[in-house]
Amino acid sequence: MEFIEGLEGIVVARSRMCSIDGQKGVLVYGGYDIRDLAAHANYEETAYLLLHGELPTKEQFDDFNGRLLKARLERHDEIAATVDLCVKQGAAPMEMLRTVVSADAFHEPKKTDNSTEENLEKAVGLIARIPVMIARYVRVRAGQAPVAPDPSLSHAANFLFMLTGEPASERTLRTLDVALVLHADHEMNASTFAARVIASTLSDMHSAMVGAIGALKGPLHGGANEQVVRLLQEVGSLDKVDEVIRAKLANKDLIMGFGHRVYKTYDPRALILKEMARDLATEHDTEWFAMSERIEELVVSDKGLYPNVDFYSASTYHYMGIPTDVFTPIFAMSRIAGWAAHVVEQHAGNRLIRPSSEYIGPGPRSYVAIGQR
Ligand code: COA
Repeated sequence: MEFIEGLEGIVVARSRMCSIDGQKGVLVYGGYDIRDLAAHANYEETAYLLLHGELPTKEQFDDFNGRLLKARLERHDEIAATVDLCVKQGAAPMEMLRTVVSADAFHEPKKTDNSTEENLEKAVGLIARIPVMIARYVRVRAGQAPVAPDPSLSHAANFLFMLTGEPASERTLRTLDVALVLHADHEMNASTFAARVIASTLSDMHSAMVGAIGALKGPLHGGANEQVVRLLQEVGSLDKVDEVIRAKLANKDLIMGFGHRVYKTYDPRALILKEMARDLATEHDTEWFAMSERIEELVVSDKGLYPNVDFYSASTYHYMGIPTDVFTPIFAMSRIAGWAAHVVEQHAGNRLIRPSSEYIGPGPRSYVAIGQR
């Protein structure tokens, strides 16, 4: 048995959801190029594609949307109580999400039923309710009254409405919808692997989602988008970019939002997010975007590392006025569809995921009584 650090290049599942060509920078969900989906699909269609393997017909879409609308209104009092407790106890946004998603399982009628049908039902519930959790948390934390979902609005529009209390502009709405499409799945990333490992013990959907949220939170994974903002804040202005970034590169510091285990070229999601950030910059301040572009030039030329999804999603969400510490929860709000689809797939053809480790501890030795050590 050979030890492969970080499991690089190891294939741990056969999956129909998503494929990546890391050399060419191509990302595909169920046969559809991500650029095609970002240009034409909304998040609901994308989630349906991941969960069911096909884009929905009009009838299937209406049914799916109706189930999301219904699930969005469910467990209101229970979610409110747990979110408010998290705010009161000073929980950070990802801590809140990890906790409230876990508590959502208390109210599942068929907790231990891992059938495809029941898993899909649980997935719809979580896709619908995670935005409710995040929006309530943000508003209660800011001392504002929570806003109830509006049944006439789409998934992305509802989130923005619950977050701000106002209807979103067409541009903001489309930007968020595209960002949600782009983040919905990404092959065997760390949080998806965590979800599949948990599911492979025949543990339930919610447990797998809680583990995935915990994995996504880390700064090497979904937590990187928040770190990108911290980096831009540290740099401060366009004229400081070269000095700060060159010093970091010389010091071999990690530049957050760059590099990827699989992409060895431009991440196709980052290209789309970059253009959306460029577009939003014209409405806000162009310096933030100019700083980002200059950081990119320096890191690409010095390290040959390209921006990943987190680099320009940070500017995009920043321009949308979303609080920085809510960026990673928005990633989770989208990725929940991919995670859930992977759990459905894992449970449908399960074998326990249980790799091995290479022992590098001491050789054989005899027990020594505690007083003689
Ligand atoms: N900034 C500076 N150097 C980086 C870097 C970054 N963002 N990402 C990778 N490198 C360097 C590594 O230090 C390593 O250098 P070395 O060969 O001198 O040791 C080299 O590039 C190869 O990287 P490696 O550590 O093998 O990559 P990985 O596949 O283990 O890690 C990431 C992938 C994503 C964890 C890594 O690129 C990273 O930490 N990026 C920043 C965090 C981030 O943006 N995460 C979101 C990912 S979507």
